[in-house]
Amino acid sequence: MNKLAAKLRVGPESSHRARLIPVGGGKGGVGKSFIVANLAASLARMGHRVVAVDGDLEGANLHTCVGIPRPRASLADFVAQREEDLGKLILDTPIPNLQLIAATDGNLATPQPTQSRRVRLMRELRELDADFVFFDLGAGTHAAVMDYFMIGDDGVIVIVPEPTSVENAYGFVRAAFYRRLRLAMASHNMRKIVTIAMDQRNERGIRTPLELLREIQRLDPAEGTRFVETMRAFRPRLVINDVRTAEDIRLGFSIQGVCRKFFGIEAEYLGYVNHDESVHRSVRAMRPLVDAYPRSDAAVYLSRIARKLLADGAASRSREGSI
Ligand SMILES: Nc1ncnc2c1ncn2[C@@H]1O[C@H](COP(=O)(O)OP(=O)(O)OP(=O)(O)O)[C@@H](O)[C@H]1O
Ligand SMILES: [Mg+2]
Repeated sequence: MNKLAAKLRVGPESSHRARLIPVGGGKGGVGKSFIVANLAASLARMGHRVVAVDGDLEGANLHTCVGIPRPRASLADFVAQREEDLGKLILDTPIPNLQLIAATDGNLATPQPTQSRRVRLMRELRELDADFVFFDLGAGTHAAVMDYFMIGDDGVIVIVPEPTSVENAYGFVRAAFYRRLRLAMASHNMRKIVTIAMDQRNERGIRTPLELLREIQRLDPAEGTRFVETMRAFRPRLVINDVRTAEDIRLGFSIQGVCRKFFGIEAEYLGYVNHDESVHRSVRAMRPLVDAYPRSDAAVYLSRIARKLLADGAASRSREGSI
């Protein structure tokens, strides 16, 4: 494992007190912030201590989703090194047990943290005194987003049933996987091959992670074993949002199948959230749907996903205990 990987504690041995759940998806406007606010509020309503973190320094709005109109502190203070203690940026929300780290007032000239600052941020997030830390990644697949996605093994990818979103979701899985893999490779030469494979049109003709695996196994069997371990540990979780038809619901299973066939990755289909007109009303009221309209269809589906996250955590804890 190389230096950055060690700092990020990437890999099957990762463990932390708070469960860190980064939420991304590549595409903008698919409901990432809506899902973060509602899963966080849902778990808070069940009595768990939750911190929702807005990682979208260029499009911050998670504070509005949880009912804080003008945050008095923000992650931008940490990025600009005005505040070293992440704990001091935590704000209470109107929902008991739910706290927020906002991302407002970023410096337009340098909105993103440097890599060393990102590593520090990830370390501090892991140490927050909470049961769950949700991290809203914003759109895109740039390096910072991918690093954040790797902070936990619980990364959630939000997809809406539209070809553009599905396309971006595959791009997101591919970017996350290759980045994680490059960090896991111990040998410089194998890291170089991963970097070559990251160019979709590379001249070695490596088109999919499975083809890359065959190449690495041929060249360096020990690294091949590490590759397989990294593949097994990477279990992105899928949420299909804004669902209107039975076919939309099945999309989660077909994406799962494609991940298995072409990436060799076992994605988990965490669940779906239907299209619901009350979402718009709850956003306008600056309240999570599960709080404002707990009986609405979408709120029921969101609570179901929150319970599944809880059950997943309990299952992996008991697996850890049995080793
Ligand atoms: N299940 C749903 N039913 C109805 N409307 C929805 C649903 N999910 C999201 N929306 C609508 O989509 C809008 C965009 O959602 P949101 O801001 O959470 O997306 P995002 O992925 O965080 O966007 P960005 O990439 O810009 O951060 C919301 O304001 C909401 O009105
Ligand atoms: Mg958002």
